[in-house]
Amino acid sequence: MKIIDIIAGARPNFIKIAPIIKSIEKRKKSSDFTMDYRLVHTGQHYDKKMSGDFFAQLGIPLPDVNLNVGSGTQAQQTAAIMVSYEELLLKEPSDLCLVVGDVNSTAACSIVAQKLCIPVAHVEAGIRAGDWSMPEEINRILTDSITNYFFTTSKYANENLKKIGVSDKDIFFVGNTMIDTLIANIDNLKPPEFMSGRKDDEYFILTLHRPANVDDVENLEIVINAIGEATRGIDVIFPVHPRTLKTIKLIDKVPKNFIFVDPLPYLEFNFLVKNSKAVITDSGGITEEATVMNVPCLTLRDSTERPETVIEGTNVLVGTNPDNIKPILDKLFAGEWKKGTVPELWDGKTSDRIVGILEGLV
Ligand code: UD1
Repeated sequence: MKIIDIIAGARPNFIKIAPIIKSIEKRKKSSDFTMDYRLVHTGQHYDKKMSGDFFAQLGIPLPDVNLNVGSGTQAQQTAAIMVSYEELLLKEPSDLCLVVGDVNSTAACSIVAQKLCIPVAHVEAGIRAGDWSMPEEINRILTDSITNYFFTTSKYANENLKKIGVSDKDIFFVGNTMIDTLIANIDNLKPPEFMSGRKDDEYFILTLHRPANVDDVENLEIVINAIGEATRGIDVIFPVHPRTLKTIKLIDKVPKNFIFVDPLPYLEFNFLVKNSKAVITDSGGITEEATVMNVPCLTLRDSTERPETVIEGTNVLVGTNPDNIKPILDKLFAGEWKKGTVPELWDGKTSDRIVGILEGLV
């Protein structure tokens, strides 16, 4: 029996691994299947609202191992994950290390596995924003530079990998596991309790957690007040990430139409996205979900590693200049938002493809 480690550390990872585990469990029922997995939670995210709720709602089994690393600076967190994962692999090696996305856990575990000559498979390989000020971009570059098998979400990712010399035979264009999870759960989305009695479509949903947007108090205050003004008094529901909460607490003036709530579980959050007037965000994954649900999406960043959400989907890059927000929202109010299409292979079957390919690799 070959064992693959499935690494998950932070909130978006849980959404990406859930369908891969389901596909493995499905295949395990057949007698010719000779692969099993060990689920390794690094503990990068540890709050119930950032971790446990996702395991429960998405039916992810309890981790086989929890490295419990917790928070820290970039180097502290990355180093802690490396030390703990190396200890695990030295005691109980696996046959392949499967990492997803671009968080610190992704890069840290890839480095450890590859140095112990354990092959690495990267789900969501090849995406690039071209912005080295984002820790995620560094994680993408590091991980892809030592990955053996590249599972990609788009033709743009394939091109990026070819540019850095990855051979065609190691690139597997499979689609998007985050969208597998969305499609599997779309009929179960449910309103959070605080929405009872409200009509649909009468609110915006906002998420902000990138260090560049949220770590500076003055900057965050300017951004949220620009959003407050541009949304014309319509409610803006803002589930506040723990990182953002630290700064929000120091802000004097918050817009009157803002409703601050805790981070939401998966089904409630995506219910709100699906029924909102628009999403305003600095996340990457949310732009993909908004594209599939055909919901207008404004991204408060200067670049994106997911160009398909802009070229094919409903996403518009607003940039980080707060003055850009109003003119773009004016277009939405004028009913002038583009209609998007769903990118190729974002069809809910990506994880089955990945597992089928992994079977041939380990
Ligand atoms: C991380 C990822 C980011 C991803 C995001 C999703 C990296 C470099 N960044 O950013 O790509 O989009 O997760 O949320 O890996 N905290 C808690 N409770 C938790 C987790 C974090 O209170 O359960 C606090 C910590 O005090 C920490 C801060 O939030 O200082 C940031 O957490 P961290 O994991 O370092 O990065 P994120 O900003 O969440």
